[in-house]
Amino acid sequence: MNKVDPYEGKRVSAPSVAIVLAAGDGTRMNSTLPKVLHPILDRPIILHVLGNLSQLSLDSIVVVTSHPEVDAAIRAEFPDVTIVHQTERNGTADAVEVALSEVGAHIQRALIVPGDAPLLSPTILGDLVAVVDSPVTLLSAITSNPFGYGRIVRSGGLVTEIVEEKDATAEQRRITEVNAGVYWVEVNLLRTLLPLITTNNQQNEKYLTDIVKLAREKSIEISAIQARDFNAVQGVNNRIQLAYAGKSMQRVVNSYWMLKGVTIEDPETTWIGLDVVIASDVTLKSNTQLRGKTSIATGAVIGPDVEVTDCTIAEDAKVLKSVAINAHIGKSATVGPFSYLRPGAQLHELAKVGAYVEVKNSVIGERSKVPHLSYVGDATIGKDTNIGAGTVFVNYDGVAKHKTEVGDGVRIGSDTMLVAPVRIGNGAYTAAGSVITDDVPAGAMAVARERQRNIVEWVKRKRPGTVSAQAAERDNT
Ligand code: UD1
Ligand code: CA
Repeated sequence: MNKVDPYEGKRVSAPSVAIVLAAGDGTRMNSTLPKVLHPILDRPIILHVLGNLSQLSLDSIVVVTSHPEVDAAIRAEFPDVTIVHQTERNGTADAVEVALSEVGAHIQRALIVPGDAPLLSPTILGDLVAVVDSPVTLLSAITSNPFGYGRIVRSGGLVTEIVEEKDATAEQRRITEVNAGVYWVEVNLLRTLLPLITTNNQQNEKYLTDIVKLAREKSIEISAIQARDFNAVQGVNNRIQLAYAGKSMQRVVNSYWMLKGVTIEDPETTWIGLDVVIASDVTLKSNTQLRGKTSIATGAVIGPDVEVTDCTIAEDAKVLKSVAINAHIGKSATVGPFSYLRPGAQLHELAKVGAYVEVKNSVIGERSKVPHLSYVGDATIGKDTNIGAGTVFVNYDGVAKHKTEVGDGVRIGSDTMLVAPVRIGNGAYTAAGSVITDDVPAGAMAVARERQRNIVEWVKRKRPGTVSAQAAERDNT
């Protein structure tokens, strides 16, 4: 799932479950969209979380939700995940209790993770579950800006409790070690402690974090593992954090590709989706966005200012300041600046789509060129053909779309209207400004425009005294 951070560590031997808490309303997002469905790199947060977790191969994954849209998103990609509904949002401890109803008696340990922390990598989670000896192990991190997080309170080095921001004293708020909301804990212990948790706090909720204090009171060992990088544990509660989490993910993904041999001129403005595949010696210039199932072969140069979605780009192709969706850009083909490749655009080797050209559902053959200001829709263009500036493939009669076929070695004159359905034979020419409504045989020159006539001295008679008339007069003397 997550190729930028595959988990290669130890697997857990004890029967275990992952519990994902995703039932919250996400009030702080101020959104009609449930929080965990907000996307990062075009993918809902919850799917990032599940993608990371699924690499650990725990026995099962239980997600606590409360929105049908969230359920649908999960089912579409993770059909094996168990979904359970929390009917009232009584807090994180209540959510875990709800999840436990779906956890079989043979399951010994649970890895609890928040559904709003998309950067919890398989490696971090895997390293946590590799520590199986302590009944409760939690994940913490150090940050200079701990606002909003539960603080890890220690005494003599040992964790004694977690205090939420709203319940913390001024002194506790200065603690920079924060709770990641991730716990690797014995299921039996959860079944014992959760019923003891009360809503006696500022938010009138059952805090899962209270298990730490309760365990401590029962002299149960608690260990804490500090994540090396706070960025990996950050949660998304509001849109500022959404943006920061996106930035962190962008850095992780871009670093991965740079180490694989991709030159990224400006990583801060380059966005690469998780399903994108890039060969080594590709160059990505600034302000490039690669989305969906895009693949890019070696030697290609993409950018600056390019957005590409679900495209295949072959070796040594160049795409400059353009947008492409569901298109194929062949070997050494060039696109841009300022062009738009729409679904079904297929450029063969060395084809050229120049400036201000839109191409939809059309094949452009080897070495053929559409250099300037044209619309190519529902067309097949052969090899070595040139389409003159301002040509329009008139594919739409107001009701239906029709096809145009242009052969090899054709020269379409500038400003030609090719009214589909129509065929232009191999080696044919069309005169500039023609409206072509009938097929043109191979090797013919099609002229479909009125002959020019010059009305001599028209300006002198009709526009006397104007600059034009004066200029014309100069020419005549
Ligand atoms: C929680 C932790 C905090 C920690 C932080 C890490 C508690 C009380 N606090 O705070 O110590 O530093 O995460 O990111 O646990 N949820 C439910 N049902 C509920 C309430 C929440 O499923 O009734 C889910 C939410 O959808 C969310 C997750 O649990 O995905 C955490 O809840 P949230 O409200 O974001 O907790 P924080 O305030 O971030
Ligand atoms: Ca949170």
